[in-house]
Amino acid sequence: EKGGYDYFMLKEIAEQPKAVADTLLGRIDGSGTLSLDEVRIPTRVLREVDKVVIVACGTAFHAGLIAKYAIEHWTRIPCEVELASEFRYRDPILDQRTLVVAISQSGETMDTLMALRHAREQGAKVLAICNTNGSTIPRESDAVLYTHAGPEVAVASTKAFLTQLVACYLVALYLGQVRGTKYGDEIRDVVRDLSRIAGAVEQVLGTMEPVRELARSLAHKNTVLFLGRHVGYPVALEGALKLKELAYMHAEGFAAGELKHGPIALIEEDLPVVVVVPSPRGRSVLHDKIVSNIQEIRARGARTIVIAEEGDEAVVPYADHLVRIPATPTLLQPLVATVPLQVFACELATARGNEVDQPRNLAKSVTVE
Ligand code: F6R
Repeated sequence: EKGGYDYFMLKEIAEQPKAVADTLLGRIDGSGTLSLDEVRIPTRVLREVDKVVIVACGTAFHAGLIAKYAIEHWTRIPCEVELASEFRYRDPILDQRTLVVAISQSGETMDTLMALRHAREQGAKVLAICNTNGSTIPRESDAVLYTHAGPEVAVASTKAFLTQLVACYLVALYLGQVRGTKYGDEIRDVVRDLSRIAGAVEQVLGTMEPVRELARSLAHKNTVLFLGRHVGYPVALEGALKLKELAYMHAEGFAAGELKHGPIALIEEDLPVVVVVPSPRGRSVLHDKIVSNIQEIRARGARTIVIAEEGDEAVVPYADHLVRIPATPTLLQPLVATVPLQVFACELATARGNEVDQPRNLAKSVTVE
């Protein structure tokens, strides 16, 4: 049932290109148009939306953090992202014009369910992004966009996360399409790029042996830090979460711009720091800033593990280890940049003798608050 893999997690990591392609299937076409008729929220209602609030837990929350960049950029609708467990205890401001997006692989996470019930009581419309047909969260939502990752067995979420990202991009692009946006051309380009992204994920998967080797060489370490900017920041958070839950190591993700506001004090000789580097094309300011962040931490002794686009030569002098990913538009980069971090955590867990599919103290679906 593990299809020749030692762990479900490895199998599920390998299934990501298909999961991504399946989640796009029938929802985008060659002309760059999206059809999400299955989202049963009338376009009239979507046109009126004046705020998007995303609620989720854990890895799904990280997908939500990335979605915010896409939604605000393409639709200009303000978007908040909140941990479901915090959301309903703070009296959030919601009304009929708020679109709440609840992201959940299992569809049974109690905190997310409670958050969406609260949102609906306040009159907000709830759209679920969910991987499990007929589960509680989609049943209780106004609409659902299913991710087509197939069953995810390993406790640590991998393919579900990538498909949650795809679903979030689809929602963002669809809102842009329905409401009209000055980014019409960009939307068509992105839809085209999305249709090729499964191939890019496949490509990354084919180059992971050096990442595995590196992970094994770090098995004795206590701490790994992760840095990113823009959408690379939630990717850093996700890399750190994977490492905590699988390798039981102290891992933290930071926004690279926050370094000098505290975390840089943690840098010491030979501390592994993974840095997710945005594309040097497009928003190149971001890229240049992170290159100087890498320089700063390396000058203080960090062992830098740099995840950067092919052809990005600026990072080479400062990378102790360089992991190449295919060139992708910035907003879509998390789909490829997350993969090495999943492989890294999985291999570190194995090297440390941990139970990969069933980490200690964790359950696949968290049905208590
Ligand atoms: C991490 C992980 C968890 C889940 C979280 C939400 O790898 O799997 O953080 O993402 O418990 O679960 P769902 O998506 O089922 O609501």
